[in-house]
Parts: sequence; C-alpha cells; structure tokens
Amino acid sequence: MRRKLAAGNWKMNGTGENLAELSALAKAHPEPGADLLICPPATLLSRAAAAAPSIPLGGQDCHASASGAHTGDISAEMLKDAGASAVILGHSERRTDHGEADAEVRSKSEAAWQQGLTAVICIGETLAEREAGDALTVAGTQLAGSTPDAATGANTVIAYEPVWAIGTGRVPTVEQIGEMHDFLRAELVSRFGEATGNAIRLLYGGSVKASNAAEIFAVNNVDGALVGGASLKAADFTPIITALENA
Ligand code: PGA
Repeated sequence: MRRKLAAGNWKMNGTGENLAELSALAKAHPEPGADLLICPPATLLSRAAAAAPSIPLGGQDCHASASGAHTGDISAEMLKDAGASAVILGHSERRTDHGEADAEVRSKSEAAWQQGLTAVICIGETLAEREAGDALTVAGTQLAGSTPDAATGANTVIAYEPVWAIGTGRVPTVEQIGEMHDFLRAELVSRFGEATGNAIRLLYGGSVKASNAAEIFAVNNVDGALVGGASLKAADFTPIITALENA
C-alpha cells in the first residue's frame, strides 16, 4: 500500500509572515491520515522547521554537485541542514526558466539521495505536445531520463504535472489523468519490477484545489498531489488534505 502524499510547492512566494500559515496547517492536522510535505522558499526552511516542527519540509531545487563555485545555488546538504527531508526536482518552471534537462534532473536526484533527501521528480507535457497526441511519449521519455536507476519507493516520488495545467485553472479530465497515471505506473513496473515499480508514489499536479481534489484523488494510481497556489494558505490546503485522507 502506498501512503498518500499531499505536497505543497510555495514557489517564489513567502516571507517570515507566511510562517503563520504553516503553524495553522500543523494545528489543523495534528495526526494527518496522509503524508504532508511543504516546500517553501529555501530562505524560509529553517524558520519553517522551527515554526511547525511536525510538518516535513522540502526544497524546490538543489545543485547536482555537493559543493563548490556555483554562485546562488543550493546543495542538497544545505537543504538537509536547513531542515528539509525532500526536494522537488525538474519542476517545469525549472526546466523552462533554467533549461534543466532530464540528465541534469537525474544527477540532482542522485545528489539529493546522497543526503538522504527524497527526490520529488516532476514531469509533464506542454499543451502543444498534448494536442499533437504526444503526451504519453513525452512524459514517458522524461520519466525514463530523469529517474535514476536506484530509485525506490522510499527515495523517489514522481509528480505528473501537465505544463498547461500549472497555475492556469485548467485541469485534465479524470480520464486523461487516469490514462497517464496508469501508463506511468506500467513504465515504472517495467523498469524497476513489480515491488519497486508499485511502491513509487505518483502525484498529480496542476491547478489542484478544494473543488476538484476529491475527483482527482479517486483516480487509479493517483497517490496524492503536488499543489502550488492552493498550498499557500492553510485554509485552502486543508480541504485538499482532507480530501486525500478520505480518498
Ligand atoms: P498550481 O502549481 O497548483 O499552482 O497549478 C502546481 C505546481 O506547479 O506544482
């Protein structure tokens, strides 16, 4: 049985005053029936750890190298030191804004594992790719190229995030999500075998909100969500967590 995971990605949002949202979240879910993860900006990690010690934290990116002359970058060790237990890697905004390709995401995942961080590897097609009928091929290629060979259910989570659904309010149909997640599950099983392939969690991400969470969580092979905008406020994220607990 895969434990459900509700992950929040704050992106480039949040300063000290937003930590009250984390405390509110911790208060609203003292014994959550699903795993939680909040990925605030790296500048808030250590304060977030202090403000809400019960909520697992993640980074939003890490460098593939352990240390060195990389101005502005953050290593996996630094994230861990600041209180993170996971890191989002290969988010489509990183792929677009910073030209990250699959091989780099793969190296970053291995760097994360070196520090015991869970890699939350993001994949997903653009609208043009979906309309061309290439969604499965594109996501399958990203999955294969971004996920290292030593992936397990403990060290890796895959987030399927169609680029056209991120921050747009547009969501794929449950049929489209189901087709993709069944496909990704089959790809994982074929590469890693039954045990590992079935243990790696598959999150859906892209405009998840309280009003659509329950129907998305009812889809086969959807093990939770990676939530952007609706994770910033405890009042918005709480009903999504509850929907996942009840799924
Ligand atoms: P969104 O972002 O929920 O705001 O669409 C999701 C994500 O990019 O992880």
